Amino acid sequence: MIPRIYIPGDSGALALGAEKVAKAVRAELAERGIEAKIVRNGSRGAYFLEPMVEVATANGRVAYGPVKPSDVKSLFDCGFLTGCHHKRWLGAPDQIPFLARQTRLTFARCGVTDPLSLDHYKAHGGLNGLQNAVAMMPADIVKQVTESGLRGRGGAGFPTGIKWKTVLDTSADRKYIVCNADEGDSGTFADRMIMEGDPFVLIEGMVIAGIATGATKGFIYIRSEYPHAVAVMQKAVEIARKAGVLGVNVLGSANSFDMEVRVGAGAYVCGEETALLDSLEGKRGQVRAKPPLPAHKGLFGKPTVINNVISLASVPVIMDKGAAFYKDFGMGRSRGTIPIQIAGNVKYPGLYEAAFGMTLGEIVDDIGGGTATGRPVKAVQVGGPLGAYFPRALFDTPFDYEAFAAKDGLIGHAGIVVFDDSADMLKQARFAMEFCAIESCGKCTPCRIGSTRGVEVLDRLAQNIEPEKQIALVTDLCNTMKFGSLCALGGFTPYPVMSALNHFPDDFRPTPVAEAAE
Ligand SMILES: Cc1cc2nc3c(=O)[nH]c(=O)nc-3n(C[C@H](O)[C@H](O)[C@H](O)COP(=O)(O)O)c2cc1C
Ligand code: SF4
Repeated sequence: MIPRIYIPGDSGALALGAEKVAKAVRAELAERGIEAKIVRNGSRGAYFLEPMVEVATANGRVAYGPVKPSDVKSLFDCGFLTGCHHKRWLGAPDQIPFLARQTRLTFARCGVTDPLSLDHYKAHGGLNGLQNAVAMMPADIVKQVTESGLRGRGGAGFPTGIKWKTVLDTSADRKYIVCNADEGDSGTFADRMIMEGDPFVLIEGMVIAGIATGATKGFIYIRSEYPHAVAVMQKAVEIARKAGVLGVNVLGSANSFDMEVRVGAGAYVCGEETALLDSLEGKRGQVRAKPPLPAHKGLFGKPTVINNVISLASVPVIMDKGAAFYKDFGMGRSRGTIPIQIAGNVKYPGLYEAAFGMTLGEIVDDIGGGTATGRPVKAVQVGGPLGAYFPRALFDTPFDYEAFAAKDGLIGHAGIVVFDDSADMLKQARFAMEFCAIESCGKCTPCRIGSTRGVEVLDRLAQNIEPEKQIALVTDLCNTMKFGSLCALGGFTPYPVMSALNHFPDDFRPTPVAEAAE
């Protein structure tokens, strides 16, 4: 059998030099006259080990990483095709501590299979969920998804089954499934990783959503900054169509479903579901007032399911293994697993899929290994640019929607960004206001005007001009934005601002100029 070498081809690994490694491997194979198959798999998500090269040996896969092009010659010299020990040797990939401790349900195949091989996908359990779904009544599929406890992974944590039921129960001549792949949150990359590493799981989830709700057409709205994900998804859609997974008579059943990939408009607000719909319809992405809900009147005025990539990609495993299996993971009302994305100033950055319930401290200190700079962790922002800053004192908070809400925070898309003790939280608060000012769609006043006034107030505070007055003003302004904004962009910007102010008050009382000069 010809040897197989796996070299990740996803954007994360490419950014870390995977293409140069692949080129060096190809050159070495040619020079030594060795015939081997190079598979460009997705990354397994341990980005501190990328580019991570794997070989299939008689005793299973063996990983090496992070591999530099200059390592390639010595890897061949030592016989890495049969798993030799080398300074980059990591052993069996699923025994690497960062990977071994995970519960991979949604990302089970990511990094394992060839992303664009439907045969490989099927050999690893792919399409089992859809096979079950085509034999079921729509209402029974919706029931399974509801009973699994799956909640939207895009940010709001809304129960997916309830959203699907609303669309199923709304009669119309046409319904749509829209996948939100705008992934605008800071430090997040789960959507991109799965689209590039296991695109068929998203397609399978969308087809199941279509059959469950009576929708026959789907759109994947991918942010323009993800050209690689766009290319992979487009190829995967073509392959799925040719294989009868998409089109009329899905898997030989009476159901029809097809989909298209659309490229986003490059604005954070286009990730908000109604602005996304406007953008998909070819208009400027601006938030719509609700009601009507998109489930009643969405894309082109038709009932529409809008779900995040990870919500949809989690459906196949639920339909394969059953609602009870999935529901068994997690805590409280947060069921199943969540792909946590650990980023920022952290020693071991990467994607870590785990059942809900780990504490923030376990994630940051044990899994993430603390800061990359080696300095103490000062704060962690969870849930993207609209998420709260958590100090060490709150590291016992379990990763659970309700537990985070109880601490005035949010899980959002499960991105966490770590900061060391050199971070200036007043600057971070200003950044939140500035971000909101730049990204505001302009539809409502608290967000459009409030964010600009917020930047000015925080600038005055930084200059130590009547600090107590500025703190009272920003607190009042945050209250107005929180309760008066039309959507969560203006409504949640107060979370990073107020958490920074409440947990790190010293940073908001800059040393007076005269004192600093002494
Ligand atoms: C300003 C703003 C940006 C958002 N960006 C995204 C995004 O990039 N991806 C996403 O899935 N949801 C995003 N959301 C949440 C969506 O509006 C919506 O709740 C989500 O797509 C629903 O899917 P889910 O139920 O599967 O989470 C954003 C919301 C707001 C207010
Ligand atoms: S809160 Fe901001 S982004 Fe949302 S509708 Fe109002 S102006 Fe637009």
